[in-house]
Amino acid sequence: MDYLRIKHSDNLYGSVKISGAKNSALPLIAATILSKNDVVLENLPNVVDVKVLIKLLTMLGASSKDINENSVSINTNNINNTQVVYDMVRKMRASILLLGPLLARFRKCQVSLPGGCAIGARPVDLHIKAMGNMGADIHITNGYINASAPKGLKGSNIIFDKITVTGTENVIMAAALAKGTTIITNPAKEPEIIQLCDVLRQAGVEISGQGSNEIVIVGSDGELLDFKNIEIIPDRIEAGTYLCAGAITNSSITINNVIPKHLEAITNKLKEIGFGIEVDSSSITILKARELSGFEITTSEYPGFPTDMQAQFMALATQCNGVSTIKERLFENRFMHVNELQRLGANISLLGNVANISGRSNLIGADVMATDLRASSALILAALIASGETRIHRIYHLDRGYEKIEQKLSTIGVKIERLKGDKI
Ligand code: UD1
Repeated sequence: MDYLRIKHSDNLYGSVKISGAKNSALPLIAATILSKNDVVLENLPNVVDVKVLIKLLTMLGASSKDINENSVSINTNNINNTQVVYDMVRKMRASILLLGPLLARFRKCQVSLPGGCAIGARPVDLHIKAMGNMGADIHITNGYINASAPKGLKGSNIIFDKITVTGTENVIMAAALAKGTTIITNPAKEPEIIQLCDVLRQAGVEISGQGSNEIVIVGSDGELLDFKNIEIIPDRIEAGTYLCAGAITNSSITINNVIPKHLEAITNKLKEIGFGIEVDSSSITILKARELSGFEITTSEYPGFPTDMQAQFMALATQCNGVSTIKERLFENRFMHVNELQRLGANISLLGNVANISGRSNLIGADVMATDLRASSALILAALIASGETRIHRIYHLDRGYEKIEQKLSTIGVKIERLKGDKI
């Protein structure tokens, strides 16, 4: 199995081009089910999760054509199967995003329940309840959500007790083809939600309120939509990860092709720690800090501090003075990276969903194991300042969401290689 070997690389320089956002690409690929024509997606990140979802669509009967490495054209007119099998959902939880659009267009579907994952139980009860509110008849049998709405979905008032990103996306997509008006109260406000709404509006759906506490969608009553070409927004989590590479090594680097507003929670935290931040229309430069102060983070829904950046900031905290505190509010088990960071010499104590990190620690290279996507990037960051070399195993997690990670890190001065190793 491939592993990454990273040698101590504490003097980074230059710039990195940020790819399209995986978490925007996934709902938009699912949304192509609502289209009557070919849909061209550009600035698509070439990562495993994106490839898996496109493959899943083709298994249902859709066709896809690569235009280049980062653009694809998808046509869903020949979908003749609406069963999303366990094997695919197991590989990628986001396959649940097919529930809303399949049900809206074909009036029935079977989608495997995802089950738990490395970062927690991650139920999909809110997705299921919302589809029920929109008129679907739902039975859970043999691990599958069996959903049907023979007369089509109907607009409805959906009130989310808890904010859910993919849950909100499923309802938006289902509502786009439903009969009547859907009002979503307490929706997610992530930039990826805004992009999905913008794309559907350009495709002819009446949508308002995205980014606020209430989204209103007037459905097309089953009429398929007329999609325009889509340019995926930049990946704010990939961008934040590279900023952390600059931060942990106290180097000045620039990230290009970003929307700085989407990164404000991250750049504000970096400023609080002591870094200078220079912002241009589509780039951000992190400037060296004189001293790195400890910090506090509580993860939250957008526009709060993203849970997807928690692990990277934990690695950074090992190099800050004093005690930093990180409270994980969204996922109950998202601390799998703690043990691995400790193997490198980090001083972290865990109490429930709060981690206290005492800095500064002299990290020492070791063999460590990636446990989920963002935990893996925290290990890469720690490896940059660990003495000697660090070998990171199970890097298939990284490939799910970071495009060309070795090439991009090499460009800014990281000594990194992907090697073939024993099965671990
Ligand atoms: C999305 C992102 C993921 C990010 C997460 C939180 C994608 C593809 N993934 O995941 O990278 O970490 O948002 O920002 O966009 N919940 C329920 N019932 C449900 C749905 C969710 O209890 O039906 C809970 C979850 O267990 C979690 C919280 O709600 O505690 C937020 O989860 P959610 O926003 O749904 O995460 P995802 O959409 O799966």
